[in-house]
Amino acid sequence: MTTAIRFDDFVLEFGSGASAVRALDGVTLSVPEGCLLGIVGESGSGKSTAAFAAGRLMPQGVQPTSGRLEVLGRDVWTLSIPDLRQMRVSDLRYIFQDPIATLDPTKKIGWQIREAAVGGASPQDIADALRNVGMNDPDRVAASWPHELSGGMAQRVVIAMALIARPRIIIADEATSALDASVRTRILELLRDVSRQRGITLILVSHDLWAVRKFCDRIAVMYGGRVVEEGPADRVFDQPAHPYTRALLAATVGHEARGDRLATIPGIPPLLHGASPGCAFAPRCDHAQAGLCDRMRPQTEAVEEGWHLLCHLWQDIRQKGRSHGAD
Ligand SMILES: Nc1ncnc2c1ncn2[C@@H]1O[C@H](COP(=O)(O)OP(=O)(O)O)[C@@H](O)[C@H]1O
Ligand SMILES: [Mg+2]
Repeated sequence: MTTAIRFDDFVLEFGSGASAVRALDGVTLSVPEGCLLGIVGESGSGKSTAAFAAGRLMPQGVQPTSGRLEVLGRDVWTLSIPDLRQMRVSDLRYIFQDPIATLDPTKKIGWQIREAAVGGASPQDIADALRNVGMNDPDRVAASWPHELSGGMAQRVVIAMALIARPRIIIADEATSALDASVRTRILELLRDVSRQRGITLILVSHDLWAVRKFCDRIAVMYGGRVVEEGPADRVFDQPAHPYTRALLAATVGHEARGDRLATIPGIPPLLHGASPGCAFAPRCDHAQAGLCDRMRPQTEAVEEGWHLLCHLWQDIRQKGRSHGAD
């Protein structure tokens, strides 16, 4: 199977010198083509930076410090500008949180969808694109201004604009966070269904663990600029192996049906200046061992095939959990 996106020990910082913020501290992650992947983690864990790095959408002058990032087998950060543009048009599309801000307020919807299509689109193509995202009255929507649409309708339009270019990858960064719960579910169903039908790789960056569990095949949990656990969504949710994933899930119990934002874990996430000397979660981790977790950077270990994590002690923790369960 081809790999849609591959991060290999990818490091990226904002700013320079001692005050530089290390947003990504060695991300390693492989996303198979056609997979629906959820990326979760507290605010500031590096989810959006990772998502934007894939399309090289970074402020002027920001370059990776080290590592590699490939999209569909090509090293994104060494692509020529025309190749990069081509990639953003035909391979990789983004959907952001605020659809109204994504749309041009001065242009009607039909015009904007035509512009998003590679090689133009007929009125029929535009109507089909709107029908595909669940619009029953596509001609009326095409003739509307962005401000005349509800948030849910506007996000459908944005999805139609992403799909009409026939991309191979869609990255949705908190794309449903601003919508009402019922609308949010319908938009996620739409994204899941069209991605499945067309074999699109869908990456859902989300605070909403419940949605990721329901809609994704795989989950990547980020903390301190690294992917600390990554595997099949159902397996990771049922038996989280990393203490951070366990804490995250425990903090969310009781909130899942409402799709609330994450409840808090005691302590605050790190703001890194330079590489974390050990495990970035150690200061908040109930299991951390001084001299090990705070000093040694955990390396990728496999829980089983296709399920990886970064934790020195995961086997002990799992063992302890088992013996407690047997008491
Ligand atoms: N453009 C930027 N300039 C400076 N720092 C940034 C920028 N974007 C993100 N950061 C910092 O990088 C870290 C990761 O942020 P982000 O990727 O937005 O996290 P998340 O999406 O998980 O909330 C945070 O400490 C954030 O403040
Ligand atoms: Mg973000």
